[in-house]
Amino acid sequence: MTATTEQSAWFTYNRFGMFIHWGVYALGARHEWLMNRERMSAEQYERYARHFDPDLFDAREWAAAAKAAGMKYVVLTTKHHDGFCLWDSDLTDYKVTTSPFGRDVVAEFVEAVRDAGLKVGFYHSLLDWHHPDFTIDGFHPQRDDPNAAAVNEERDLARYRDYLHGQVRELLTRYGRVDYLFFDFSYAVNHEPVVWGAKGAEDWASEQLLTMVRELQPGILVNDRLGIPGDLVTPEQYQPDSPLEVGGKPVLWEACQTLNGSWGYDRDNTDYKDVGMLVRMLIDGVAKGGNLLLNVGPNGRGAFDEHALESLDGIGEWMRLHSRSIYGAGRSSFTPPTDIRYTQRGDRLYAHLFAWPFETLHLPGLAEHVEYAQLLNDASELGMRVIDPNATAQNMSQGGQPAGTLTLTLPVRRPDVAVPVVELYLR
Ligand code: GLC
Repeated sequence: MTATTEQSAWFTYNRFGMFIHWGVYALGARHEWLMNRERMSAEQYERYARHFDPDLFDAREWAAAAKAAGMKYVVLTTKHHDGFCLWDSDLTDYKVTTSPFGRDVVAEFVEAVRDAGLKVGFYHSLLDWHHPDFTIDGFHPQRDDPNAAAVNEERDLARYRDYLHGQVRELLTRYGRVDYLFFDFSYAVNHEPVVWGAKGAEDWASEQLLTMVRELQPGILVNDRLGIPGDLVTPEQYQPDSPLEVGGKPVLWEACQTLNGSWGYDRDNTDYKDVGMLVRMLIDGVAKGGNLLLNVGPNGRGAFDEHALESLDGIGEWMRLHSRSIYGAGRSSFTPPTDIRYTQRGDRLYAHLFAWPFETLHLPGLAEHVEYAQLLNDASELGMRVIDPNATAQNMSQGGQPAGTLTLTLPVRRPDVAVPVVELYLR
């Protein structure tokens, strides 16, 4: 990990970003890997590029939606594994500006996101199933082609590597400051299942690529999928069960998560996480010192679908009242009871109640440390007391609690928010 604490300060502070997976796969509307899954040839797949005309695309609307949800940075797929480029690259014609749409999506995105006061991020695929020099391997759509070996003879991965480096150079020199770069992905080492012909750091010339990235954009944060260490670790589609460490040291990390299991627009997939779950995932990550990059897959018209909008609205509603427990907050050294996640920012400790108990909330170990307690959603005071450890439970009085336990009195009615939060002012 090479980023200094100063370089990563914005990232750690902000905690919450939007991932946007968008490309011509949105027209297939059945997952961004459809080219691979359906073993489509480049020619077959090109039909999407020929019919790409997202007339509802408005980068300002995307940026506004991210902002309203409480997200502070936005990461767009400049190119996914299908190879289609969302900017006006000089190095290929397989790009948005030669599609019926004809506009440079990356340019409009960067301007809108920056104008909204959000940080700018790019996702860039290392794989490219359209490029004529990207050799066929076990992930490639042509993996079952009986002529694969012969085809590979004609391909020169070194030429693809130049193309990859050249395109990254374009992306990092044409659009001003880029704050974050998410390369995706390497599969030569430690990849389950093992893939034949798998590619990794050597194939991408990752060391050189990363050196160039840092020269062109000093201070940029780069993820860990080049097959060499980056600035942050990126668990995907699972929640880490403890703070992430590399070699016993805590590292910068960010979980990337989907709304319904698919990154690209997937019309018939209804596996939606509800708002409560999404909010709990955000909290759970921050409590473990991590960020959340939550994905939206706009459709082929360039719009967020109603499910995505509903989810973002719900999260935004919660964030409006509770972002104080997220921004600038992180792990606490206090240990929470079951069903509670603590985050801490300086002298404020936030107890996120994943379950709402009846009236009494016991917080072990906090009696000496808390000066004042309130519900965060409306800043209403909560009664505090310390129950004598030796007290015996009577018909109407609680039994003793372990020494040092702080006991709060909650209203019977749970506040009508996705996850209630108790704000504790520490001494
Ligand atoms: C992956 C997938 C993918 C998605 C991504 C997000 O490794 O290949 O389609 O873009 O990760 O993290």
